[in-house]
Amino acid sequence: MSRKPRVVVSRRVPARVRDELERDFELTLHDEERPPERERLLELVRGAAGLVSILTDRVDDELLDAAGPQLRVVANYAVGVDNVDLPACARRGIVVANTPDVLTDATAEFTIALLLALVRRVAEGDRALRRGDDWIWSPTFMLGRGLGGRTVLVVGPGRIGTRVGALADALGMDVIYARRGDPLAPLLARADAVSLHCPLTAETHHLIDAAALRAMKRDAVLVNTARGAIVDEDALVEALAAGEIFGAALDVLEDEPHVHPRLLELENVVLAPHLGSATHDAREAMGMMCVEALRAVLLDGRRPSNEV
Ligand code: GLV
Ligand code: GLV
Repeated sequence: MSRKPRVVVSRRVPARVRDELERDFELTLHDEERPPERERLLELVRGAAGLVSILTDRVDDELLDAAGPQLRVVANYAVGVDNVDLPACARRGIVVANTPDVLTDATAEFTIALLLALVRRVAEGDRALRRGDDWIWSPTFMLGRGLGGRTVLVVGPGRIGTRVGALADALGMDVIYARRGDPLAPLLARADAVSLHCPLTAETHHLIDAAALRAMKRDAVLVNTARGAIVDEDALVEALAAGEIFGAALDVLEDEPHVHPRLLELENVVLAPHLGSATHDAREAMGMMCVEALRAVLLDGRRPSNEV
C-alpha cells in the first residue's frame, strides 16, 4: 500500500470535511479561522499533491512554484475562482475545481435578505434602537419601500442570479436580466433594484462605476453578493452621499476585510461580512465538493465533475 497523497488545507473546515480528508489523505491543516501569513502558506504547500484553497488565498505562480511540480489539484472552497490564476494552473497541468450548486440557495436567500434589510430599513432600525434613539410609532416614521411590483435587474444570470430571479418573482417583482455583453445602461435605467451575480474578471472589474450609478434611478438600490471589486467603491460612496441612488447592500467589499470608512457612516447602507454561502449545510457541502475533487484526481486519476 503506497502512502496517502499529502493534501494541504489552508483554513479550519467543518468537522465532517476534516474527517473525510483525514481518511483518504495525509492532511496538513491550518486549523484557524484566520489565514496563515503568506510566507507560512508558501511553506505549508511545499511538496503537496493537493491544495484546498480559500478565497482569500492568492493561488498564483509564486504559490504554485513554492508547492512544486507534484501539485496536481487545487480545490477552491468557493464558487468564485478570481483568487486563482487559472492560466498558471493550466500551464502546469494542475486541475482546478470549485464549489458550484451547493451554495446557490444559500447565496440567493442571503441576497434577498440583504435587499429586504435595505429597503425596509431593518439594520437601520436595529441600530437606532441599540443607540437608544428616541422614537414612537408615527405614520411617517422610518418609511421604506416594498418589493412587489418593482423591477429587479439581475446582472449575471448564472445559477445564483437565476435563483435570485425566481425568489424575486415569488415576491411579486418583475425580473430582468443583464447577460454578458448586454449594454448595461438602458437596463440599469429600468431597475428599482440591481443585484450583482457575475464573476469578477478583467471584464467585470468596476462594471458598476460612476457612470453606471448615474444610469440608475435615484430611488434604486444596489445589492452585491458577488465580489467587491465589481463595484467601484469610491464611486459608490460618492453616489450614496449625493443621493444619486437610494442605498446599497454589500456582502462583499473591494478591499476585504477592510471596510471603506465612509460606508460605515451612511445609514442607507447595509453591510455583511461576506456571508452569502455561510450556512452550515452549504459550507459542509462545499467542503465535500473539495474532497471529491481531491479524490477524483489523486486517488482515481480522473477529472472531477466540478472542474473549472
Ligand atoms: C464565495 O464568495 C464563493 O465564491 O463561493
Ligand atoms: C454561480 O454559482 C453562478 O453560476 O451564479
